[in-house]
Amino acid sequence: MTTNMTTKTALIGHPVSHSKSPLIHGHWIAKHGLNATYEAIDLPCEDLEEGVQTLIREGYKGFNITVPHKVDIMSLCDQIDDLARIVGAVNTVTIENGKLSGTNTDVYGFTQNIRETAPDFDFTKGPALVLGAGGAARAIIQGLIAQGVPEIRLSNRTKEKALELLENASTPEKIKLLNWDARSEKSTQQDLNLLVNTTSLGMTGKTPLEIDLTHLPPAAHVNDIVYAPLMTDLLTKAKANGNPIITGIGMLLHQARPGFKLWHGIMPEVTEDLREKVLS
Ligand SMILES: NC(=O)c1ccc[n+]([C@@H]2O[C@H](COP(=O)([O-])OP(=O)(O)OC[C@H]3O[C@@H](n4cnc5c(N)ncnc54)[C@H](OP(=O)(O)O)[C@@H]3O)[C@@H](O)[C@H]2O)c1
Repeated sequence: MTTNMTTKTALIGHPVSHSKSPLIHGHWIAKHGLNATYEAIDLPCEDLEEGVQTLIREGYKGFNITVPHKVDIMSLCDQIDDLARIVGAVNTVTIENGKLSGTNTDVYGFTQNIRETAPDFDFTKGPALVLGAGGAARAIIQGLIAQGVPEIRLSNRTKEKALELLENASTPEKIKLLNWDARSEKSTQQDLNLLVNTTSLGMTGKTPLEIDLTHLPPAAHVNDIVYAPLMTDLLTKAKANGNPIITGIGMLLHQARPGFKLWHGIMPEVTEDLREKVLS
């Protein structure tokens, strides 16, 4: 039986006005001619529980979660999949019969972006250097482990945060903690296969990421998950050195796909027109 009920979906966070998610989901909703909505809802921390109850009451099919609720939402979920549990954060929820099921799609977004941009890239070929140990780094490290990266060198300004990440990782023996100051050293870079910036350094309005790439092998891929600006100083420097580069926009676009599939039953495509729309 077909119904003409609108499928309601949303993004919750605080703030949310800057988010590209409504644009991405709105693009796919229009493209597939769906009777659906996706709106950004600003929910301060103290309103999270009541806000989620309202979404349930109003018959929402699901929602994405952004900063600062990705961890707190976990205690409101009835079910959390293994991936989100290992990452320690939920960014996508599906509501069925008033029950919340949480997952994390950042791991997929990160991996898929690299696969799409550099189809021949072999994750297993050598060590990866990850700069940063925040929320995004947790998903990225999980993605690297799942892709068979033999060693992950983790360099973060605050060592305690890197230690915390290490303690919660599925295979901590693969992760080697480095001091923040060691990121440019020869012993850190000389055999790298991949370098990923997961810090907010280099983002518009933030301080630049200071790193010397002298010792980085020319074949090492460099990925910056910061996408505003698209060409960060790190990527510009890496490109000038002859390293293959991977921008951060694809991660944002690809992480949105599994949620759309869960809510609407269609795996949407990342197309050039969508990419241009999001970057304009
Ligand atoms: N492309 C995508 O789809 C995507 C997805 C998620 C996030 N992002 C971007 O990734 C960045 C990080 O996001 P997040 O959620 O992981 O943020 P987060 O949890 O707040 O973590 C921020 C990270 O940046 C480091 N950092 C901040 N200021 C620093 C400084 N002055 N010097 C050295 N390190 C500094 C922090 O180090 P400390 O631990 O020392 O504070 C921490 O490792 C943001 O720019 C975000 O927009 C992109």
